[in-house]
Amino acid sequence: MNSVLLNSARAISGWIVDIRRTLHQHPEVKYEEVETSRLVQKTLTELGISFRHSVARTGVVATLGTGSGPCVALRADMDALPIHEEADVEFPSRIPGKMHACGHDCHTAMLLGAARLLKERESELRGTVRLIFQPAEEGGAGGARMIEEGALQNPGVDRVFGIHVWPELPTGFIGGRTGTLMAAVGSLRISVRGKGGHAAFPHMTHDPVVAMSQIICGLQTVVAREMSPFDPSVVSITTLCAGNAFNVIPQDVVATGTIRSLTTEGLLRLRAAIERIAVSIASAHRCTATVERIDDDPDYPATVNDANSWAMVQKAAADLVPLSQIVEVPPVLGGEDFAYYAEKVPGCFVGLGIRNEAIGAVEFVHHPRFKVDEAALPVGAALHTSFALHALKS
Ligand code: NI
Repeated sequence: MNSVLLNSARAISGWIVDIRRTLHQHPEVKYEEVETSRLVQKTLTELGISFRHSVARTGVVATLGTGSGPCVALRADMDALPIHEEADVEFPSRIPGKMHACGHDCHTAMLLGAARLLKERESELRGTVRLIFQPAEEGGAGGARMIEEGALQNPGVDRVFGIHVWPELPTGFIGGRTGTLMAAVGSLRISVRGKGGHAAFPHMTHDPVVAMSQIICGLQTVVAREMSPFDPSVVSITTLCAGNAFNVIPQDVVATGTIRSLTTEGLLRLRAAIERIAVSIASAHRCTATVERIDDDPDYPATVNDANSWAMVQKAAADLVPLSQIVEVPPVLGGEDFAYYAEKVPGCFVGLGIRNEAIGAVEFVHHPRFKVDEAALPVGAALHTSFALHALKS
């Protein structure tokens, strides 16, 4: 353990926390991160760090160091969620119905903290550090668009790291693993069309409500009967929308949901099985079914950590925290569009503990009372910095 870097991060923790709280009060959802992007750009300008903006609409790509290879990328996401905040904090969201409930405000603030720490050490950098601030992680595949618009080029990125606040780990713990950390994720919209009519004359209709009910029950067998028990996967139908009168059989019923698998191939198998079951059951009930993705959002691939990058993370983390705080975590069926970067170059996505019962930071991400122990923020900033220093050393 060499606490110099962590001490430097702690010395600026007030500055990091201020940025985080400003972002927390002004959450912006996918592809609307205009003010967030402006704050990132303003901060980078003040630090004297050059950047490209309007990448993937609101994204920012900054560069430090020599401008030539080797090149390591550090990534943060900037978007909030359409959730109304109920957390007990002194700086709640000022925008009704929107909240940083996944901690992306922390991710952005920690990467700006790392920007400041790296700028102070720029003369020591033997290569280039790329800082990627991306939009639209929560749907919208902002990471894929950032890559399309050159975030991993000039010079070519050799390795990429990302941090997510991790509510299952106590503050200051650092968790990761080799191989798959997070699931491949896809969205579903199932539309069933029948023939509506008077509810007292069901024989004169083709009832899509009954057909959809059978489809939803039928889908429960996909994971149980079609997927290997050793290939964890999930099918969840989460919304259901049918008619609007108690005595009318509607023409259409629409359900939406999510599918998850620890492998990208598993997700394709789920999708194919769901389509086959929905179309066949609808047809048995004289209805038709279509299965599509919501808003044409692409399926997110699984987030797979490279073994060398995870080894590097453990070394980088050991500079900051005791070895007992560096832990292997099991994979989860949450999704992450960091997957797109890790598909292109070796990389590692890491969980940073933020759980602290004493201050009520106990809820999971995407919960209206989700709360972060801000003592973790300087650790995250130092960790990003340490990733960069270790990656350029090797
Ligand atoms: Ni997130």
